[in-house]
Amino acid sequence: MYARITGTGSYLPGLPVSNDDLVRRGVDTSDEWIITRTGIRARHLVEPGRMTSDLAFEASCRALEAAGCKASELDLIIVATTTPDFILPSTACLLQARIGNVGAMTFDVQAVCGGFMYALSIVEKFIRSGSHKKALVVGAEVISRILDWQDRGTCVLFGDGAGAVVVEASEAYEAYDTPGILSTVMRADGSHHGILSVAGQICGGQIVGDPFLRMDGQAVFKFAVRVLSEVAHECCDSAGISPSGIDWLIPHQANIRIIESTVRKLNLSMDKVVVTVDRHGNTSAASIPLALDVAVRDGRIRRGQKILLEGVGAGVTWGAVLLQF
Ligand code: ACO
Repeated sequence: MYARITGTGSYLPGLPVSNDDLVRRGVDTSDEWIITRTGIRARHLVEPGRMTSDLAFEASCRALEAAGCKASELDLIIVATTTPDFILPSTACLLQARIGNVGAMTFDVQAVCGGFMYALSIVEKFIRSGSHKKALVVGAEVISRILDWQDRGTCVLFGDGAGAVVVEASEAYEAYDTPGILSTVMRADGSHHGILSVAGQICGGQIVGDPFLRMDGQAVFKFAVRVLSEVAHECCDSAGISPSGIDWLIPHQANIRIIESTVRKLNLSMDKVVVTVDRHGNTSAASIPLALDVAVRDGRIRRGQKILLEGVGAGVTWGAVLLQF
C-alpha cells in the first residue's frame, strides 16, 4: 500500500504587498535590503476578520476538485498551523465543518514551518497501515497576526496563505509507475527552542509575556542550511536514490539564501528547485504545499517525477518527504 497525492490546491489572500508597500506603511526598511538579504519581493497579508480556516477552506476546495474527491469521502483531515483560529477547537475541525465532512479523524499539527512535513508523514503512516484511505492535508497560516510590525528584522520576512493536498491509498500493484510517497524522515531538537519563538501565553483571560514572533536570524539561518542538506540526503538514502536523481526539490520557502546554500550542499542546480519565496514570503506551514501547487498547476511538475519536499521550523523541527508524483 502506498500513499499518493492525487490533488493539490492553494490560496493566497488579498493582493500582493510589495517591499515598497511596507516602506509606505511605515516599516523602517528598503526594497534593496529585503531583496538582497532574503530574495523576497512581495507577500500576501490576510484581510481583517479572515482566519486560518478561511484560507484552508479555499485551498482545500481546490485540492479536492483537482483530486476529483468529495469531502464526504475523506476519513482523515490534518491541518498544520501555528496560527489556529482559536485555542480550541482545532482549526482542522472548523475546516471539516466548512467542507461538509462528518466522521473523519481530524486534528491540527503544530510543528511551525516543519508542520506540513510532519502532517504528510503522519498521513502516510495511517494510509500505509490500511486504517485510512483518503486524507486531506493542509498547511495554513495567518502568520502576519503574530508579527511585531515595529521589528523590521522579522516583519518583512513573512506572509499569509494556505496549501492543501489530497492523499489517497494506492495498492502497490496499481502503483507500479507512480507509487506516491517513497520515504519520510522527521526530526526535532527542542534544545534550540529559543532561536525562534512566540513566548506569550494566555493566563486568566490575559496575554502574559510577549505575543510576537522573535528570532535569532543568523542562528536560524545556519541551523536551517545544515539540517536541510542532511535530511535531504537521509531521505534519498532511505529510498535508495541519490539527490541527483530527483526531478524537483521543493524546500521550505524562508529565504532564497538558505535555499541556494542548501542546493549548493546537495550539488543540485537551481533549475530543479521550485522557488516561491520571492512572491509569497515565508508562509510557515503553508509554504511547501503552496509551492507544490504552483509548480503542479504551471505544468513543471508532472506525474511520475520524483519530488523531494523538505522543511524546517521553530522547535526546531525539520523533515523531508520523497515521493513519486
Ligand atoms: N531592513 C533594513 N535593515 C534591516 C532590516 C530590514 N528589514 N532588518 C535588519 N536590518 C539591519 C539590522 O538592524 C542590522 O543593522 P546594523 O548593522 O546597523 O545593526 C543589519 O541590518 C544587519 O542585521 P542582521 O540581523 O545581522 O542581518 P542578517 O544579514 O543576519 O539578515 C535575516 C537578517 C535576513 C533575518 C537573516 O538572518 C536570515 O535570513 N535568517 C534566517 C531566518 C529566517 O529565514 N527565518 C524564517 C523563519 S524560520 C524558518 O522558516 C525556518
